[in-house]
Amino acid sequence: MRLPLLAFALAACAARDVQVIAHRGASWDAPEHSFAAYDLALRQGADWIEQDLQMTRDGQLVVFHDDSLDRTARGPAADCAGLVRDKTLAQLRRCEIGSWFNEKFPGRARPEFSAERIPTLAEVIERYGDRARFYIETKNPAEAPGMEDSLLVLLRKHGLAGAGADRERVLVQSFSPASLERLHALEPELRLVQLWEDPIPAAARDSTLKRIAEYAVGFGPSRRILNADLVRGAQRRGLVVHPYTVNDEPVMSYMLELGVDGMFTDRPALLLRLLGR
Ligand code: G3P
Ligand code: CA
Repeated sequence: MRLPLLAFALAACAARDVQVIAHRGASWDAPEHSFAAYDLALRQGADWIEQDLQMTRDGQLVVFHDDSLDRTARGPAADCAGLVRDKTLAQLRRCEIGSWFNEKFPGRARPEFSAERIPTLAEVIERYGDRARFYIETKNPAEAPGMEDSLLVLLRKHGLAGAGADRERVLVQSFSPASLERLHALEPELRLVQLWEDPIPAAARDSTLKRIAEYAVGFGPSRRILNADLVRGAQRRGLVVHPYTVNDEPVMSYMLELGVDGMFTDRPALLLRLLGR
């Protein structure tokens, strides 16, 4: 981006309070979805910490990205390999989620990471309380019937949904329109964000965004499909635009130039610096 254009984009960002969403926590520098990654993101000043939800065999909501434990969990194979949904919470308690990171990223490794455990969503909410805002994804909800209902029970219990809720402290995102529509039907005031991976043909753009705006307050496209028309089209429909996942400074600058309202990043400190915060 040319310098005057970047300066203009940054001034506009300050005016519209661009949101810094720590994707799986500050997951560039600490293992994804660990307390270490969330602690770091909040210390850096991120506006939101992100949680990907999976449901265990005994119906507990845990914060973990993949369907499978194999990439990021280590421990007894009977407990820490295979699908999350085939394990009980008691089994997942036997896994750690940091040593894969130390092996893959030796330059960012810390011995204490290998003591990190898979958190439940309740533990994340209880640990951070009022200090954080939670950007929660229902992950593969078709494989976890009842995930939305369990999520609402938890959010209501913690004052994040229902009567008197602090609605500004939670956003729920999903690639699944059905999951979001169910949440909207059960809790119309809950603020929802529709994730979107594939390009939308120009002829279908407005009708797609109009439909999304019937249940969601935001649109979360892959950065790969984003362009100025899509940003403007979504904002015209009243949707905030939060692309994922942006980790390079030139791409961050480009997203800001397009006029996004926030973005998911593994590197919240980098985005905060670019925003002058
Ligand atoms: O939720 C936004 C972004 O996180 C979606 O991709 O695979 O990282 O959950 P993923
Ligand atoms: Ca996610």
